Amino acid sequence: MKFFVDTADVEAIAELNDLGMVDGVTTNPSLILKSGRDIIEVTKEICSIVSGPVSAEVVALKAEDMIAEGRKLAEIAPNIAVKVPLTWDGLKTCKVLSSEGKMVNVTLCFSANQALLAAKAGATFISPFIGRLDDINLDGLELISDIREIYDNYGFDTQILAASIRTANHVTQCALIGADVMTAPPAVIKAMASHVLTDKGLDQFMKDWAKTGQKII
Ligand code: G3P
Repeated sequence: MKFFVDTADVEAIAELNDLGMVDGVTTNPSLILKSGRDIIEVTKEICSIVSGPVSAEVVALKAEDMIAEGRKLAEIAPNIAVKVPLTWDGLKTCKVLSSEGKMVNVTLCFSANQALLAAKAGATFISPFIGRLDDINLDGLELISDIREIYDNYGFDTQILAASIRTANHVTQCALIGADVMTAPPAVIKAMASHVLTDKGLDQFMKDWAKTGQKII
């Protein structure tokens, strides 16, 4: 499973990238706001760090305007994936931009039918939002599973990019289901390294080591 990092925080991206944990990056208007940076400048900087797909989202609502924005965003770097919302205009935009050879990430997906439409429109990535479905007492992981089955039934090559991941357990479940990609905030990726028994075991080793009175260096 590929790991994308869901942030526009350049320092956090660079830290994870140095560890080989970053296969791509996803941003959205809320994350650009959080970064406090200009969208073009920060996206360019991210693309200079990460060689995999970097999603940059359009903000227009009409297809014609979305297409123009998508083309401008795609000029930032060759690894830009233009992110469009799963609306009818977004699907039109997806079809046009993917036909031009641009990567397109169709976002804000909350149903299997929406995912089916995105694949038909030539999406490179479909982004189903797990956490936001869980927030309203629906099952986000079940959606990932349904899309996996549907795409496999028909051999669609659109990649399932599990998004709105809130916990390390979401990552495990997405990997078990067979999501192609997961995108998570840096804190969730770091939380994957934590285990209470690791902490407990290390604590014991440190205590016993101190008792030996030895040093390695
Ligand atoms: O990738 C989409 C993500 O940024 C949304 O996450 O936690 O705001 O639902 P969240």
